[in-house]
Amino acid sequence: MTTISSPRGATWLTALFAAAACLLPAANAQGYAVDTPDNIRASAKTLAFDMMKFYNGNQSGEIPGILPGPPSDGKGDYYWWEGGALMGTMVDYWHLTGDTTYNDVITQGILHQVGDNRDFQPLNFTASLGNDDQGFWGMTAMLAAETKFPNPPADQPQWLALAQAVWATQAAPDRHDDTCNGGLRWQIPPTNNGYDYKNTIANAIFFNMGARLARYTHNETYATWATKQFQWIWDVNYIDHASWKVYDGGHIEQNCTDINKAQFSYSAAILAQGAAFMYNFTDGDAAQQDIWKTRVQNLTDGLFRDFFPKGVAFEIACESRHGACTPDMLSFKGYVHRWMSVVTQVAPFMRDTILPILKTSAEAAAKQCTGGATGRVCGFYWSEGVFVDPAVDKTTGAGEAMDVLAAVSSLLIDEADAPVTNKTGGISKGDPNAGQGSRRAVEPATPITTADKAGAAICTILLLAGGIAIWVFMNLGD
Ligand SMILES: *[C@@H]1O[C@H](CO)[C@@H](O)[C@H](O)[C@H]1NC(C)=O
Ligand SMILES: *[C@@H]1O[C@H](CO)[C@@H](O)[C@H](O)[C@H]1NC(C)=O
Ligand SMILES: *[C@@H]1O[C@H](CO)[C@@H](O)[C@H](O)[C@H]1NC(C)=O
Ligand SMILES: *[C@@H]1O[C@H](CO)[C@@H](O)[C@H](O)[C@H]1NC(C)=O
Ligand SMILES: *[C@@H]1O[C@H](CO)[C@@H](O)[C@H](O)[C@H]1NC(C)=O
Ligand SMILES: *[C@@H]1O[C@H](CO)[C@@H](O)[C@H](O)[C@H]1NC(C)=O
Ligand SMILES: *[C@@H]1O[C@H](CO)[C@@H](O)[C@H](O)[C@H]1NC(C)=O
Repeated sequence: MTTISSPRGATWLTALFAAAACLLPAANAQGYAVDTPDNIRASAKTLAFDMMKFYNGNQSGEIPGILPGPPSDGKGDYYWWEGGALMGTMVDYWHLTGDTTYNDVITQGILHQVGDNRDFQPLNFTASLGNDDQGFWGMTAMLAAETKFPNPPADQPQWLALAQAVWATQAAPDRHDDTCNGGLRWQIPPTNNGYDYKNTIANAIFFNMGARLARYTHNETYATWATKQFQWIWDVNYIDHASWKVYDGGHIEQNCTDINKAQFSYSAAILAQGAAFMYNFTDGDAAQQDIWKTRVQNLTDGLFRDFFPKGVAFEIACESRHGACTPDMLSFKGYVHRWMSVVTQVAPFMRDTILPILKTSAEAAAKQCTGGATGRVCGFYWSEGVFVDPAVDKTTGAGEAMDVLAAVSSLLIDEADAPVTNKTGGISKGDPNAGQGSRRAVEPATPITTADKAGAAICTILLLAGGIAIWVFMNLGD
């Protein structure tokens, strides 16, 4: 079924490609087939194989868990957090397809990055340690617990305990102060650039993890925090009260009123997913549940209105101009697909709204994977309908590959088990004291260089530097 063209024409090479193609059904000139569950699984298998080629962490001399990087050290395109996001994508891949091929590699990668205190704050990456960066690893651990990803050996940290550790470090008093009436700062070490910025994504991940821990453990403490955290994001107007647009953040010097109105798809999606878990958790308390139901609906409506203009995921802050998205931003669509598909499980009333859009979007994603020497490399510009080489965005293409894998494998959500709790089959051992003895204000192991600072953490750095740069892109695109 494949039409991989042999670049050389040598008979043996053709034979080799044909053999490889038998093992891995691939894309044809129209891209990957995603019309039936069998085709989706076959396509996802090849997409996962190709994506894992970007991951060298299990090779001699490489560091398990991370993608080549960080950019500030000239080691590659990817910051520390994106390794955690890749691990999560692969946990979902296993959960959705049943393919265990990569489970050991993924387990090794996650466990290598837990750090001395088993809370995902490894000293090596202090210079790019934001609450959101740590939180991405925490959400991967949470997902492993919710999907019953095989437990690590008993002497190793367990998935649920790792998620609780991340949450506990973020709930600790040293991460919360009175500026802007509360909320987490972007960065964790006070010496990092961006410590004076309180952003949506850091707070939204903390909210999301609280909602999921509440549902998994039935411990009200997590729900109380999640409720308070959402309220803060709302009160500080990071969610627009009329349009439900989700903005990026503001600075403590201005009491967080200098709101940077750039919108990123993952911020809206992570809030919608957290609200869906709260909706599920508050079942039995009609008044509370109604509040969360409206939030799920309004956040989802806003997300689809703004980021799926033609039913296809589109990163509005940067996608209208080739070269404008950072490597971070190039990976957001995949999270949106994964997170919103889980919303259909914990808030089933949203199913008929969400699934058709994720389907048209995944079809567009699969269709453009026709590039490179294999004829099946994926690009980022799904709505353009043709392959655009990731080189236009100066990346090797790991985020682009992860996005398509996520979108395609998430099409199997209806066949997959919903996230478990400790009453519905959960097998991960928790520890409510995890993360309690952790370092407080994390100090860097070595002095932070200017280069490190300039490269620290998730996309927001661009906003700090330019503030209006995103607006310029948006206006150019209009
Ligand atoms: C690393 O993992 C890949 C699968 O992604 C596997 O094919 C390869 O053999 C592994 N390499 C080592 C050195 O274990
Ligand atoms: C920290 O860096 C050292 C040296 O490169 C490496 O051996 C180690 O695996 C790294 N640790 C983590 C958690 O990445
Ligand atoms: C679930 O976790 C909570 C909090 O740790 C605990 O109190 C409860 O006993 C657990 N329930 C089950 C069925 O394991
Ligand atoms: C800061 O903003 C909050 C609302 O987010 C408001 O309640 C508070 O009074 C403001 N503080 C100052 C000092 O302006
Ligand atoms: C929010 O959702 C509620 C309930 O579905 C709806 O009545 C309201 O119009 C929505 N608001 C916006 C701004 O979409
Ligand atoms: C909560 O989630 C479960 C899936 O785990 C689902 O079966 C149930 O219907 C959800 N509850 C509500 C009120 O939608
Ligand atoms: C609930 O979670 C809080 C916060 O981590 C913890 O202090 C408390 O011990 C937990 N309660 C139970 C019953 O596990």
